[in-house]
Amino acid sequence: MKKIILSICIAGLGFISVSAQKSIDQKVTELMAKMTLEEKIGQLNQYNDDITATGPVTKDADKAGQVRAGKLGSILNAVGVKNTKNWQDQAMQSRLKIPLLFGQDVIHGFRTTFPIPLGETATWDMNLIEKSARIAATEASAYGIHWTFAPMVDIGRDPRWGRVMEGAGEDTYLGSLVAKARVKGFQGNGLGNIDAVMACTKHFAAYGAGVGGRDYNSVDMSLRQLNETYLPPYKATVEAGVATFMNSFNDINGIPATGNKYIQRDLLKGAWNFKGFVVSDWGSVGEMIPHGFAKDNKDAALKAIIAGSDMDMESRSYINHLEDLVKEGKVDVKLIDDAVRRILTKKYELGLFDNPYKFIDEKREKEQTNNLEHRRFAREIGAKSIVLLKNQTQLLPLSKTTKKVAIIGPFAKATVDNHGFWSIAFPDDNQRIITQFDGIKAQLDKNSELLFAQGCNVNDKDTSLFAEAVEIAKKADVVIMTLGEGHAMSGEAKSRSNIHFSGVQEDLLKEIAKTGKPIVLLINAGRPLVFDWASENIPTIAYTWWLGTEAGNSIADVLFGKVNPGGKLPMTFPRTEGQIPIYYNHYNTGRPAKNNTDRNYVSAYIDLDNDPAYPFGFGLSYTSFKYSDFNLSSTELQGNQTLNASIKVTNSGNYDGEEVVQLYIRDLVGKVVRPVKELKGFQKLYLKKGESKTVSFNISPEDLKFYDEDLNYDWEAGEFDIMIGTSSADVQTKRVNWEK
Ligand code: BGC
Repeated sequence: MKKIILSICIAGLGFISVSAQKSIDQKVTELMAKMTLEEKIGQLNQYNDDITATGPVTKDADKAGQVRAGKLGSILNAVGVKNTKNWQDQAMQSRLKIPLLFGQDVIHGFRTTFPIPLGETATWDMNLIEKSARIAATEASAYGIHWTFAPMVDIGRDPRWGRVMEGAGEDTYLGSLVAKARVKGFQGNGLGNIDAVMACTKHFAAYGAGVGGRDYNSVDMSLRQLNETYLPPYKATVEAGVATFMNSFNDINGIPATGNKYIQRDLLKGAWNFKGFVVSDWGSVGEMIPHGFAKDNKDAALKAIIAGSDMDMESRSYINHLEDLVKEGKVDVKLIDDAVRRILTKKYELGLFDNPYKFIDEKREKEQTNNLEHRRFAREIGAKSIVLLKNQTQLLPLSKTTKKVAIIGPFAKATVDNHGFWSIAFPDDNQRIITQFDGIKAQLDKNSELLFAQGCNVNDKDTSLFAEAVEIAKKADVVIMTLGEGHAMSGEAKSRSNIHFSGVQEDLLKEIAKTGKPIVLLINAGRPLVFDWASENIPTIAYTWWLGTEAGNSIADVLFGKVNPGGKLPMTFPRTEGQIPIYYNHYNTGRPAKNNTDRNYVSAYIDLDNDPAYPFGFGLSYTSFKYSDFNLSSTELQGNQTLNASIKVTNSGNYDGEEVVQLYIRDLVGKVVRPVKELKGFQKLYLKKGESKTVSFNISPEDLKFYDEDLNYDWEAGEFDIMIGTSSADVQTKRVNWEK
């Protein structure tokens, strides 16, 4: 009885039960006993299907033949049951009939797309984030996919890096929670369930810290910083039972991640006890040659397998060289066996040996092609991801009976732009995606008029459409300007040195502003952009990211007040590119500025205020929230006591609404310097107008721990500032003394 209960509990967490695992181990052992070395190495090999590509393509004469010869363990980018069936048919003709694994970048939804992950993070709502991954898995698995290359959990402190759109932003604590929620969502009730896909934590490690925000670039940082700021989200996913990891393109302190034994074998598979497998990033085994770390593909294969990379995505180094390396005695066959065992175990856990066609079911695929319930959810999470940055004149929410509304800008009638980067293209995308124009039109009163002008293109110098847009603006009572960057301007290999609105969009905004009409500015982007002129001159601004299939409806829900925006920024927004990197949890330095304009021999720029354009954790609402009665259970604490911090939050405005109450802590003196504040907790509240609630946080010494220079993880006695507030820049503070 006890045993059964244990199994059920563990399965609920997304793990496989102990007894089931045992029999899988036996089955793997038996199968491996039958495999030749060549067949084993085949399992470590992954190719791209030739329909689409997410990296530089290598053509093979006869991929299907290689599958039949047992030389391939997995295929990526093979979408749809028809296609995956064709491939699986080939695998079933191989000697041992080992099923193929189908991997795909299911990053923010599949048929139904959701806000880009950075946008979703702005909800600060782990239930919503988990549900979005759950739906993505349900749809993707119905299209034959076993494995998503997500979540991307790289901490991103540099908005020039286009891949910040895929992650949860700059904060380690928030990022770890989001990482866990995504793994739980993708893997659902555990591998083996028909709607669960394997999650893949990427990119291991510290891919987001590349020099200058340039993609694929080098990372050089102390191990203390790595452990404290960058590694926790990856580790959190191991704790959540993630099935796989992907390594990263960058080198870390001089060693490419793919060939980095400390990162993959010692830390991930050693100290963290990760039992799944590690796939390389696209071609990253071979890329150790240009890195200057391997002399040729054979040397790269040697270094990658020793370091703990189990599967070679696309570089063909393993399939072409591992056998020789084993025969020459340079690679211990035990390393190959360990990698094969890890991969086969996952194929068993997914149930593919019982039925290789388990995820190939046309009926299911059809059912998930247009799931209205999923779309309804996309609309909800889309609206909740929007961050209201300015509403100085209370122009928002708009009245549905406004006589003439104009929507102007290159995103007004855009379709796929709403998808954002990393969404799978379907032929009917243009029909399925709700444009901003259509979403707004659907809610506007039937006696009102919605005018439209494109105004300009997303990214060129053409101003010929300005005059028409100005004329349209003049006719309107209110103008909605929808500007930003194109959906393919944030994402992989999409670093930008200039992160203003692309092309002539800012010039268009200036022209429209001259009409004097009230303007609501919507900003569509995959990263924090710099929009200093707009910030100074336009009183109403909402950040809408890329919201997915239901973008137009989500935006209209917020514009007309059906949803009161409650999103909070997951990244600091810089004033200019020159202020990057900028993040809230920085160190104080020996010469901190006293205030925003202090330039007197302090750590600051002589030509720029010190604070960012918009701080981490910031976001407005149509209502207002008042914080009062900040109380601590004690200001003198000892040892393992718990400190309770509480605060009363009152909805003091005119609308019901949501607020994210944030807890930050500062350790005033440490044996290594400590950040000026660190997020340690938050709670999302829904308050009816006039309603108050008291929020309380329990703080224990666990929340005070940090890594010292020898990588000991502990806390120290001393003084701590406890801060609670509405953003990282707007908090109330009380000090405590905590003895050991
Ligand atoms: C990206 C990965 C992605 C892989 C497969 C690489 O270029 O860095 O994030 O999963 O391609 O598409």
